[in-house]
Amino acid sequence: MTNNNMIFVANWKMNGNFSDISKAKILNKLIKQRKFKRNKVVYCPPYTLIKSFSDNFKKTNISVGAQNCHHQSEYGAKTGSINCKLIKSSGAKYVIIGHSENRIDGETDNLLNKKIQSAIKENLNIIFCIGETLNQKKKKQTSKILKNQLFNGLRNIKNFKNISIAYEPVWAIGTGIVPKKSELERNMKLIKTYLKKLKRNNSIKVLYGGSVKPDNASELSKIKEIEGFLIGGASLNAKKFVDIIKKSSI
Ligand code: 13P
Repeated sequence: MTNNNMIFVANWKMNGNFSDISKAKILNKLIKQRKFKRNKVVYCPPYTLIKSFSDNFKKTNISVGAQNCHHQSEYGAKTGSINCKLIKSSGAKYVIIGHSENRIDGETDNLLNKKIQSAIKENLNIIFCIGETLNQKKKKQTSKILKNQLFNGLRNIKNFKNISIAYEPVWAIGTGIVPKKSELERNMKLIKTYLKKLKRNNSIKVLYGGSVKPDNASELSKIKEIEGFLIGGASLNAKKFVDIIKKSSI
């Protein structure tokens, strides 16, 4: 695989307002160019902006996603919650599930499994996040944690067609620290091995997330197991986001 069919997912977290859509539009110009055409770009703004983003990017190669979802498939009395039906009806095609910032708030593997099932029902593309904490890394538990998160989160899932995995070491998120190349290669390979053990084919993309920036994108994208990036902070700045795509597409 070459570097020009990567997927770049912008996770805006709890940031952004209506005027920021214009910032995102410059991405559209870039990915229309032949060189970048095979890349996929997905914007995951807060729920409040999904509809506007979807409307604005309707005739473009940019897709829109949500950052989380409620696990219940059907509409119901769940004050303040947004499920996959609502996400889909607002125009989104993707949903991030299992981000460590939500796992820390109490999301369990079991709950994430339900969320994945409900996203599959709505035919949404799923970006399922996994990753170890610094403490777990220090205790040399990384491989066990990745395996558990994958096996439990994906339990009883039969349809892997729309699932991608995002490996996000918790200690690399928002810290400016990225894993060493050897460590990243090892963990990405581990994830691929576990996915094979789940008896699935190899078409599941594995993304990396955690302090991806213009100045490390080129180096990171050379790691052949990395098939895309999940980008937080740097994706809020359109120029930085564009630079990351340019530097990853040699
Ligand atoms: P940063 O790129 O800000 O480190 O965030 C990564 C992340 O959490 C994306 O989901």
